[in-house]
Amino acid sequence: MALYLKTMTGKMKVLNTFKFKTKSESETFSLALMFGGKVKSGQTISLEGMIGAGKTIFVKGLAKALKCEQSPISASFGLMKMYKGARFNLNHFDLFRLKDEEVPYLGIEEYMGEEKSVSVFEWGNPASYLYVRTELIELYFDLSGGDNRTITVSAKGEKSEDLVSKVYQLWRKRKK
Ligand SMILES: Nc1ncnc2c1ncn2[C@@H]1O[C@H](COP(=O)(O)OP(=O)(O)O)[C@@H](O)[C@H]1O
Ligand SMILES: [Mg+2]
Repeated sequence: MALYLKTMTGKMKVLNTFKFKTKSESETFSLALMFGGKVKSGQTISLEGMIGAGKTIFVKGLAKALKCEQSPISASFGLMKMYKGARFNLNHFDLFRLKDEEVPYLGIEEYMGEEKSVSVFEWGNPASYLYVRTELIELYFDLSGGDNRTITVSAKGEKSEDLVSKVYQLWRKRKK
């Protein structure tokens, strides 16, 4: 389901890719809270973008929304960790510097197959063959000067598309 918006000229515009702009760490955290509030068990979220772009901040917001006991940490070298949450568990994969050939030995699929869990990847590229064909929410973080970030989000699959367009509408209506 794509989002249909009425433009100023009254024409309908179809959106498949959504841009979110944040001005601070706390705004990115708030955006993640919105995603976390809507996410469903079994969904996969991929975060791309350079170091310091805000991916781990986003994971922290997700964990908060899922009512996880602990806050995720950032890793300088591969990390796979499950955070127990009151709503769902959060599987956090930070595959920074992981070699493609190492991926099959990590048991990522077992984590992802856990009941009542949501999986989020930072630097997920080496493992993307495990999730690109299924439902997927992809966020690309761009630095846009100072504390500004532009987060471009696209979705694949009905559930994910629905989620992203709902969050986009919430974000547009939020109180700043
Ligand atoms: N708009 C913003 N969104 C997220 N982080 C921001 C923003 N502005 C500044 N920051 C800072 O950028 C850094 C992002 O770090 P982190 O989330 O670990 O990045 P990544 O996981 O992408 O390497 C933090 O130090 C945070 O305070
Ligand atoms: Mg990180």
